[in-house]
Amino acid sequence: MTASIDVKSSSGTYCYTVGSSVFEGKIAALQQNTGFDTCFILVDENVWKYHSERISNTFDSLNVEYTCRVIPAGEQSKTVTQWNDLIDFLLQSGVRRNTPLFAIGGGVTGDLAGFVAASALRGIPLVHVPTTLLAMVDSSIGGKTGVNHATGKNLIGAFYQPEEVIADLDFLDTLPHRDWTNGLSEILKYGAIDDPAIFDECKIFHDSNVLDSFRNELNQLILKCAQIKADIVAADEFESGTRAFLNFGHTFAHALEKVSDFDQLNHGEAVYLGMLSAIKLSKEMGGELDDKPIRDFRSLYSFKVTREMLPENELFSAMRSDKKVIDNTFRFVLLKSWQQPVVMSVKEKECIHKAWLTVYHELQ
Ligand code: GLY
Repeated sequence: MTASIDVKSSSGTYCYTVGSSVFEGKIAALQQNTGFDTCFILVDENVWKYHSERISNTFDSLNVEYTCRVIPAGEQSKTVTQWNDLIDFLLQSGVRRNTPLFAIGGGVTGDLAGFVAASALRGIPLVHVPTTLLAMVDSSIGGKTGVNHATGKNLIGAFYQPEEVIADLDFLDTLPHRDWTNGLSEILKYGAIDDPAIFDECKIFHDSNVLDSFRNELNQLILKCAQIKADIVAADEFESGTRAFLNFGHTFAHALEKVSDFDQLNHGEAVYLGMLSAIKLSKEMGGELDDKPIRDFRSLYSFKVTREMLPENELFSAMRSDKKVIDNTFRFVLLKSWQQPVVMSVKEKECIHKAWLTVYHELQ
């Protein structure tokens, strides 16, 4: 099955499509509709390793000039240096205001390419082709782009919406196990803040061959998550209110990622631990819920970090540099109960300490 939804933003409405084998047709249709004769492709090295032939064949068949740049996989690529190299590359290659940039990869590729597209010539067309579960359900939708800074994650960037998002399930065929759980965490997040049916629908991930066994169910679930995100973004594109709910678990997660140097824990693993901490903190602040719906997926995660690698004082100071800290008061997305998110300022360090203990307990 193939399904599309509209994502509304202040700069226009764009189409998000998810399905099997949709990549070739969607790229060809885009070229016919917009008539571009040159384009740039930014692709993750792992995606290039497995799918270079498919990508090259698709663009070869368009009769357009294209230049492909392969970037190293992983969070290490989300740097100002990498952004600068890519800007140099685009400008030296003669990029024009109407030259599209295709971002083919996961969240890192999309965030980096998005920021490059936002800043080159004050904005060139951007097309996301998310190839990981996480990018399909989260980062390719909503226009958050950027790179990391030494003081924290995603601290340099811009809101910049794509022209189109093309999520082709066939790219998931080569996704390593850790990248499935990376996406699962963000899907569980939508269950926590919006739709409880998602917890049940996520049971498909207990099958190690989810793509073959449950392709249609997976397609539906990705579409559902994309729709939830599209609705939230349409209501609050620049995160002055309800979009912050998408950060459930993320204040803890960003601190965990930073203290573990962005390489020991991937984003989804950090978000999973962050959600357990946020549930604990929610309960400390009067929320009525237990962590069973999230904990039911614990067996799918294994963590490479130990508690000794995550000193609590470093976690606290990492949280301080998060974008969500205002006037030295920690702000969290918490739950009054399931699907009842609320942004709350928390001064009680003891309660936050108890939330961190939840993480330590998981890492024993
Ligand atoms: N990933 C959270 C957001 O896009 O707002």
